[in-house]
Amino acid sequence: MDINKTLSELTLTEKAALVSGKNNWYTAKIDRLGIHPLMMTDGPSGLRKVEPGKGISDINDSVPAVCFPAASLTANSFNRDLFFQLGALIGEEARSERVSLVLGPGVNMKRTPAGGRNFEYLSEDPLLTGVLGAEYVKGVQSQNVGVAVKHFAANNRENQRFTVSSDVSERTLRELYLRAFEIIVKTANPDTLMISYNKINGTLNTQNYHLITDVLRDEWGYQGATMSDWGGVADHTAAIRAGLDLEMPGKGQPSTDEIVLAVKTGKLDEGALDNAIRRLLTIIDRRQPDANPEPYDQSKHHEAARKMADESIVLLRNTHNELPLDLAKGTTAIIGQLADKPRFQGGGSSHVNPVHLVTPLDAANQLSDHVIYQPGYDLDQLDTEPTLEAAALEAAKQADHVVVFLGYPESWESEGFDKTSLQLPDNQSELLSDLTDVNDHITVVLETGAPVEMPWVHDVNAIVETYLAGEAVGEATWDILTGAVNPSGHLAETFPVLLSDTPMSMTFDQDPNHEIYSEGIFMGYRFYNSHEMRVLYPFGYGLSYTAFEYTHLQTEIDDEKVQVTFNVTNTGERTGQAVPQLYVANHATHRPVPATELRNFAKVALKAGETKTVTFTLTRRDFSWYRTGKHMWEADSGDYELMIGASSRDTRLQQRITLTFENEPHEISENTYLNEIISDPTLMALFMKDVVTPFSDHGSTTEQQLFTVDQNGKVAILQNPLFTNMPLRALVAQGLPNQLIQTFIRHANNRE
Ligand code: BGC
Repeated sequence: MDINKTLSELTLTEKAALVSGKNNWYTAKIDRLGIHPLMMTDGPSGLRKVEPGKGISDINDSVPAVCFPAASLTANSFNRDLFFQLGALIGEEARSERVSLVLGPGVNMKRTPAGGRNFEYLSEDPLLTGVLGAEYVKGVQSQNVGVAVKHFAANNRENQRFTVSSDVSERTLRELYLRAFEIIVKTANPDTLMISYNKINGTLNTQNYHLITDVLRDEWGYQGATMSDWGGVADHTAAIRAGLDLEMPGKGQPSTDEIVLAVKTGKLDEGALDNAIRRLLTIIDRRQPDANPEPYDQSKHHEAARKMADESIVLLRNTHNELPLDLAKGTTAIIGQLADKPRFQGGGSSHVNPVHLVTPLDAANQLSDHVIYQPGYDLDQLDTEPTLEAAALEAAKQADHVVVFLGYPESWESEGFDKTSLQLPDNQSELLSDLTDVNDHITVVLETGAPVEMPWVHDVNAIVETYLAGEAVGEATWDILTGAVNPSGHLAETFPVLLSDTPMSMTFDQDPNHEIYSEGIFMGYRFYNSHEMRVLYPFGYGLSYTAFEYTHLQTEIDDEKVQVTFNVTNTGERTGQAVPQLYVANHATHRPVPATELRNFAKVALKAGETKTVTFTLTRRDFSWYRTGKHMWEADSGDYELMIGASSRDTRLQQRITLTFENEPHEISENTYLNEIISDPTLMALFMKDVVTPFSDHGSTTEQQLFTVDQNGKVAILQNPLFTNMPLRALVAQGLPNQLIQTFIRHANNRE
């Protein structure tokens, strides 16, 4: 399509129709110019193609599609290739269903485990989220299908999500809540971004010029289009002015009329409308669906969904080598209705109508004749059902091993509302407690979209977190339990001991209009590690049936780049996969910084006895923090600790390095503190020359004595924190002539 020519032929009414979605899943079509409608569907972990005429809430009525594991599980893979493949398979399904845009991935930060939509998001860490999210985008787009990276930005709670303001500092936004989007935009070139419902610091995101135009387009160089989340536009004219290209799903004729009137009355510059049209036409043209698409191989995709769950399920506990289980030996009791009616996906817009669900009970029955099953509890109730529990206890008494399936009921975890507790339902907790009285060989399998409090953690031998594992949940769960697959998932989020340990527990969801991000940059492991707090399971943690050793850490500093190399060896007897993680501790800066931050990671497959070398390269950005006042990233010269860990709390190798960074000099003013001058050798030399020497040379008043250099080369005033904690202007009150300070400021601001 010749975009500019088509644009010049569009009438104002047609332009207005194009920027307003036709309905839930289509953009408008304009036959006379050959502009086809673009079909889009959810969602991040499988296709939810709703046939025309069906509403947004007909969630169970979508065309069957392979239900891949939810992002809360796949993120634990720490595997870039897996995310590319996930995107490519969903893209292939979309292409075969003639869908042009997949509404995903969801890359918001898991700010608190109470976030209602966390199962759809990847992690509490922006680097992990951004890197894996970018691979997903590349995968989908490799199939000539576009994406909508969502939800931009700081959309971290579900309650009052259409109106609440995320009140967050610029530094926190840049370092945490915008970071994953920035990585994806800069490395994967996504077709579209979905602008979230919420406000940031009082401005609705869909009307936020700074967010959509200044930061996303002008600063990051984003070339794609933007669309609103469903129903997220309050003032369409203001939204287009801010840089929003498409209102979804569009309000029909009123939307079109509003835009036409806005242009005619001068409220909206037609140039802004044209920019939106240009970006939309580019995507519409690029993502035309195939006329006769090929069907995809459902069983191949199901098998891939199983492998993705295999790579991501996390073995949290395994005492007395309870796992892996040999189902041929002795009897295994499978307890818990979730074995028969599993939680394998989240609720709301990401809901998929699966092609072939295999439950854990089905899979177990296929593997062995020595398993017995009892539901133990009723998922639709919270109270214990005595007959169900008694039968479960009876089965457990007879068994050699007990595998108990526990988790949150479906109605507790969905889009649209947040959680208020991380406790299991009472009937499940009671059942577990009674089971531990009758059998010592208990394995707990958790099917949850988010962390769980585990007051019972020491009462069971093994714990396996399968999150929401997709339609192959049954096969994947037993792959791990039996050791057919060696677990290699590592937690992409912290499991706190209690929900009340989270830094925002007292304020989250409390104010209907404001969510105050008072914890700032200290979110997730950045909080727990900085405070050396006890957690249930730390970020990055996961067990294996084999063991890994880390050796030979070497670093090479080249200009502002650091190359980090080390070896990983599989010292056990089984093939397995290690997940080495590189954390950096910043000892160079005087600013508040988290104790450690993840700066790279890898997934390394190793046969028993095998060693591989891993190399990570760190750049200036990996050592930087965001200076709010100057709106720029800054890296301080000084010492940094590099740590190679098997989790954020399990450092295996570490090395301290010293780095030198060039920074743009700061503006010096009367409000600059003496401390800042002392910490910069160039400024300090200038201060000595312009202020200290001339002043102390001219007499011996008490004030001048404060500035005299003693025989050790020390200046009294610079040794006293009372004075060093003063701005230059306050020194005038100490008798320092203002004129000397002004000369210093002038020279300081003209320095190289
Ligand atoms: C959700 C989006 C989703 C859209 C379409 C909205 O409610 O927030 O993530 O893509 O609905 O289903």
